Amino acid sequence: MGDGSPAIDALQHTGATYPPPAAIAAGAVVRDPGVWERAAADPIAWWEEQAGHLEWSSRWTRTLDDDDAPFFRWFTGGTLNIATNCLDRHLAERGERVAFHWEGEPGDRVTITYRELHARVSRFANALRGLGVGRGGRVAIYMGMVPELPIAMLACARIGAAHTVVFGGFSAQALCDRMIDFGATVLVTQDEAWRAGKTIALKASADQALAGAPGVAHAVVCRRTGGDINWVEGRDAWFHDLEQAADPDCPAEPMDAEQMLFALYTSGTTGKPKGIVHTTGGYLTGAASTHRMVFDLHDDDIYWCAADIGWVTGHSYIVYGPLANGATSVMYEGGPGFPAQDRLWQIVERYRVSILYTAPTAIRTFMKWGDALPAGHDLSSIRILGSVGEPINPEAWEWYRQSIGGGQAPVVDTWWQTETGSMMISPLPGLNTLKPGSASRPLPGISARVVGEDGQDVPDGQGGYLVIDRPWPSMLRTLLGDDQRYVDTYWSRFPGLYLAGDGCRIDDDGDFWLLGRIDDVMNVSGHRLSTIEVESALVDHPAVAEAAVVGRADPITGEAIAAFVTLRDGVHGDEALIAALREHVAQQIGPIAKPASIVLTPDLPKTRSGKIMRRLLRDVSEHRQLGDVTTLANEEVVGEIAAQAATNPHGED
Ligand code: PRX
Repeated sequence: MGDGSPAIDALQHTGATYPPPAAIAAGAVVRDPGVWERAAADPIAWWEEQAGHLEWSSRWTRTLDDDDAPFFRWFTGGTLNIATNCLDRHLAERGERVAFHWEGEPGDRVTITYRELHARVSRFANALRGLGVGRGGRVAIYMGMVPELPIAMLACARIGAAHTVVFGGFSAQALCDRMIDFGATVLVTQDEAWRAGKTIALKASADQALAGAPGVAHAVVCRRTGGDINWVEGRDAWFHDLEQAADPDCPAEPMDAEQMLFALYTSGTTGKPKGIVHTTGGYLTGAASTHRMVFDLHDDDIYWCAADIGWVTGHSYIVYGPLANGATSVMYEGGPGFPAQDRLWQIVERYRVSILYTAPTAIRTFMKWGDALPAGHDLSSIRILGSVGEPINPEAWEWYRQSIGGGQAPVVDTWWQTETGSMMISPLPGLNTLKPGSASRPLPGISARVVGEDGQDVPDGQGGYLVIDRPWPSMLRTLLGDDQRYVDTYWSRFPGLYLAGDGCRIDDDGDFWLLGRIDDVMNVSGHRLSTIEVESALVDHPAVAEAAVVGRADPITGEAIAAFVTLRDGVHGDEALIAALREHVAQQIGPIAKPASIVLTPDLPKTRSGKIMRRLLRDVSEHRQLGDVTTLANEEVVGEIAAQAATNPHGED
């Protein structure tokens, strides 16, 4: 938790409401308004029904095992293979159907059918076997948005190995830490990635990371840009060479429903990222069922989730959910503004995208770029719009529906987390009346509440802590290697209730309004970073004595990182040092963690017990009137920091 009680403010409701368009309501995947009640009356039966959409090698014997709560297990005794579900079972009826319309940033395009994807996954799975990876093996993946990324993930799943995908924007140090924590023996990476017309030297970072992770014996390198890279004989191999040399036939391993499919690292309230563990049967049940219901997926839909696979959104809604449903997706490699700011709308028009899923930070950027860009393209194919990653402000919601959705398309604001594995609170587009800024209500089978400090439900309209009071199949199972931290983080604040870490309010209609994080986790462009992670990176610099970091409200990125730094005695602080500090954070964590502003200050505001008053720093950053500061041990410093912050917004991008 942060300092003191959470600041839970209600978002403003504009009063607008949008019932489902008749055309969507009439043919929707979920049309029964009694669906929530039916699921709530018998959640176990509901989840059995959802799991029944998958292909199981052997049926489970117990649906929910809660003997060791909060270490819940789902579909125990059952076996299945994720790659079989995502690929093989579609071959007979829809093998020639396009799985991915892939578009590279420079403009190259590849169309991959389910049959082709199956063939490439099978070969690469055998290639991994050749590198000693088998059931229970561990593979790290550090790539850009190339087709070989989902191929590598599915290849792991096919042979029963677990993967951890490390977002390509993370630094060598972050990759190294994650590979070690995960116990990876193989790293799959690429020479360079394209981003906004520039190349990102992934292999060079991987080389650095590998130097610190001797347990990783092999690096498989996908050739993307053809740029020069360093090569370690005996350790490095080309992706395509291995793939071509491999046996095309690779029977899929039936895996236990509770076998780990992947771990994905995310920021918590300490400096050490948490390895969120997801398993096989429950995870796919959640990802596939929500993808089908929330996006109202029909056979002729062209679906595009414009996230990066390095985050959970890409795992569940670019790879596993859509492929399990046999959907046709668009996958785009690069930046939204390259070569021009209408790149996304070109893509929507080219492929006739009917379902688009993106983040509020992107939507606000498009808003800023202006209406003329989307208006210059035929976006009439759009049927459903999705939002994820942070609360969406009503203005951006309205713009999205109007300027991208033609004033027709429902916007499904989907609340969920890396931990939840799949969407938890979201409208169903054929049923819910939408309110801009509200994520509507918990999906069928999900039971969420809003409680106060005492763990009791707060009255409607009042802010409190969002909790989930019933287990769900795609929930995280633990934190890799740290069961105690799993219990402490999620299940200790209110015994028996899963603590999401978000503030929330429920209105009179039962609609949920998410209010942002209530802990020291920041949400920058929909990416989770902890204040302490960034502070540790700053303090790691030899010039820094102490650092405090807060997220301050930002009109585009949601939050921006504001850092306050005291230097060691004798160190001279100037612009060059500030630039060096920002670069240092980029090296330690990744460019996404660079503070937007750094204020140098002789001291940080602290309570008498020595706790840094981050809330006060947030007030300073957002230029708010400061309240009572007399509880501080060093009252005088506040005026100085405020003056500094006002006159000197150091390092602002
Ligand atoms: O604060 C919530 C916010 O993002 C956090 C989860 O971040 P991460 O694990 O990185 O997963 C992001 C993609 C699922 C949540 O605790 N968040 C996510 N979606 C929403 C949201 N806040 C409000 N509304 C949303 N739709």
